[in-house]
Amino acid sequence: MTKKASIGVTGLAVMGRNLARNLARHGHTVALHNRSEQRTRELVEQFGSEGEFIPAHSAREFVDALERPRQVVVMVKAGAPTDAVIDEFAELLEPGDVIVDAGNAHFADTRRREAALRERGLHFVGTGVSGGEEGALHGPSIMPGGSKESYESLGPLLEDIAAKVDGTPCCAHIGPDGAGHFVKMVHNGIEYADMQLIAESFDLLRGALGYEPAQIAEIFRTWNTGRLDSYLIEITAEVLAHTDAATGKPFVDVVLDQAEQKGTGRWTVQIGLDLGIPITGIAEATFARSLSGHANLRAATKGLAGPSRTPLSGSDAERFADDVEQALYASKVVAYAQGFNQIQAGSAEYGWNVDLGSVASLWRGGCIIRAKFLDDIRAAFEAEPGLPTLLTSGDFRKAVEDAQDAWRSVVSTAVCLGIPTPGFSTALAYYDGLRADRLPAALVQGQRDYFGAHTYRRVDREGSFHTEWATGARPERPA
Ligand code: 6PG
Repeated sequence: MTKKASIGVTGLAVMGRNLARNLARHGHTVALHNRSEQRTRELVEQFGSEGEFIPAHSAREFVDALERPRQVVVMVKAGAPTDAVIDEFAELLEPGDVIVDAGNAHFADTRRREAALRERGLHFVGTGVSGGEEGALHGPSIMPGGSKESYESLGPLLEDIAAKVDGTPCCAHIGPDGAGHFVKMVHNGIEYADMQLIAESFDLLRGALGYEPAQIAEIFRTWNTGRLDSYLIEITAEVLAHTDAATGKPFVDVVLDQAEQKGTGRWTVQIGLDLGIPITGIAEATFARSLSGHANLRAATKGLAGPSRTPLSGSDAERFADDVEQALYASKVVAYAQGFNQIQAGSAEYGWNVDLGSVASLWRGGCIIRAKFLDDIRAAFEAEPGLPTLLTSGDFRKAVEDAQDAWRSVVSTAVCLGIPTPGFSTALAYYDGLRADRLPAALVQGQRDYFGAHTYRRVDREGSFHTEWATGARPERPA
């Protein structure tokens, strides 16, 4: 009997190819399929010695090469191409088989596809995979959704190829249908926020202290040995230390300052709005990218006056880098707290029962936002699964409270020097908003009632009320 494959990968561009190689390197026989056969051939020619591959010439041959339940990983472009491939394979598969979408799909699409395939007796697993090309090959962080049953056959393979931290795989079943892709979406949103905060730190150190990128790289290297230890801080130091070969200038000075995006940050913000969760860090980071990309608007406003920028000096300057570290840490805690709140809300809305401690645990390694402090986040949610916000959890609370003076001073320095810090500022405003005894929302309610009779609730009585604003006496009545 010819040997069958325990899993197959269709779509062999770099991510699909690296996942297939990773699976084969872990001793799994992998069936390969690609629309154009050339890619399949190349993979076998270049990497065939890494493990057992079964190259297929057609979708039929690919499906026949798989042992039951068949597990087909689809690694093609999100949107219509994914639908087309799913439709093609759904025709060829049998009840109990599993289709895995490992791309960055929108979780609503994943829910739709899962429901449609469930009707046909097929399992559909939308899974987040983070860590880029290198991660896919050497150990990504993996966030699979879909049924529990599908995880029984698929989980062990995914756990094999995932990154490991303290021996624990960075992969766990997230929850039914779209839960995996939802969590991956929020991961990417947090990634945007984290990157923006780091970028603002750089801008502050340059603008307020006049440091060169290479000096700032050293500061980031130092930070990376402490509580900010993370992949994003590590690569930031590398990028800042890099010199452009053609001009000899710092690399960061020859790159056009217009940040792009493929859209997962935007999805996160859209869903945050739908769920009513203030993920202001992610939103500001996404808008900061948009602002940077509006070249015409920026050109048109170039001459607008700002404060004169005299770099800090003396003891202010000496303290500043340290203060920025504190502001960065506190703002990061806020951004992560908001992201986890969004997962909590998504989980409640869709009945996913997502374990936040497990999410923090599988983000500790392999993914783009991997960081030392995710282990502290894991511990916080494990100790208190219903934690309303990371900001009130033991060590985080203390760290943010200890950082607040420096945080305020950094934001005010930025404002005085005219250095835009939307990420730092919104994080601080969120912190102050949450801890405020009274918010001006009461006035907003009054305005709404005045112009639209939208009613308000009172602090001293139950029920909804409306004031007759038009009459001189302005009587109040329950609405
Ligand atoms: C990852 C990354 C990955 C990718 C995103 C972000 O987790 O491996 O998040 O998914 O880099 O597509 O890209 P944009 O910045 O282009 O939106």
